[in-house]
Amino acid sequence: MRKEFINYFRNPKTGNTFVLKNEVIEGDRIKAGILFDEKSGRECPVVNYIPRFVEPHNYADSFGLEWNTHFDTQYDYKSKHSISQERFEKETKWGSDLTGQLILEAGCGSGRFTAYAADTGATVLSFDYSNAVEANYKSNGQRENICISQANIFDMPFEENSFDKIYCIGVIQHTPDPEKALKTLVRYLKPGGSIVTDIYLKSFITCVVSPKYIVRAVTRHMNPAKLYKLCVKYVNLMWPLARLISRIPAIGKSLNWLMLVADYSRLLPDADDATLKEWAYLDTFDMLSPKYDIPATLKTYKRWHEEAGLVDIDVHYGYNGIEGRAKKRVTE
Ligand SMILES: C[S@@+](CC[C@H](N)C(=O)[O-])C[C@H]1O[C@@H](n2cnc3c(N)ncnc32)[C@H](O)[C@@H]1O
Repeated sequence: MRKEFINYFRNPKTGNTFVLKNEVIEGDRIKAGILFDEKSGRECPVVNYIPRFVEPHNYADSFGLEWNTHFDTQYDYKSKHSISQERFEKETKWGSDLTGQLILEAGCGSGRFTAYAADTGATVLSFDYSNAVEANYKSNGQRENICISQANIFDMPFEENSFDKIYCIGVIQHTPDPEKALKTLVRYLKPGGSIVTDIYLKSFITCVVSPKYIVRAVTRHMNPAKLYKLCVKYVNLMWPLARLISRIPAIGKSLNWLMLVADYSRLLPDADDATLKEWAYLDTFDMLSPKYDIPATLKTYKRWHEEAGLVDIDVHYGYNGIEGRAKKRVTE
């Protein structure tokens, strides 16, 4: 973390600022040390250049394993498709020049969107509950305008009403309380600021009769490392069959998803077998491992936006199920 980034952090419990102590500095970066709230006595460690405001292990541990194992699988330079860039630009519609603005990225995972937010010239504060932040730091931590921290949406170490823009992609359904997660994020947005989020769609087909939710009843309780190995074995076993099924016109790829083999051949039309398999390992694990997977209906998601005091609400079906774009009301 660069030294000046300390000014953005607040003790989540008191709102107090921090001072730095016991620091190990390398160039303009804090490699290790303690963020100390002199008034309350709270200490938050900086470990491997990343300030940590949460306990090292928590319900998001499976994501730490997922994103550290697949730190660049979904990066555009690796897939040679601009999937993440297009998704970031289409979901946010923020344009390419946000110089001088402050953006919050909640639930960064491997950080595949972080660099695109930073490319706008804004300062990007990016955080995740899991140690996926290590993966993000590896890819994006050297950028001057990116600050990565390990924190929890429900207990954020930032000032309320301070961000021009907030985005939270692929995250809200994976928290224990999606409604509270959305409404908490809004508190950190400046009046007039813009928030972009998404959530899985809740429907009879996607939830009640979906093999994923049936299998998850067991797998969400499993040790992540053991489950990951099992997912790799399962994908390897099913792969020859899945490649054949994938060729069935119209329904083949969906059938594979129903069989819990993540099939990305539609999104990555000219990808080789090894790439498709890597995405399948990642996303089969991503379906089965999260502690929480709580989708919502369009109507409910829209209502949460209204209750959060947002205006210019655009909640629609999109890439991840449902996407929401809105602004925080400016109060006179
Ligand atoms: C499916 S991943 C999405 C990562 C990234 N946004 C992407 O789309 O590639 C969901 C992420 O949400 C994070 N997450 C879950 N609950 C969280 C919380 N309470 N606070 C912050 N991050 C959380 C997980 O650790 C995980 O990295």
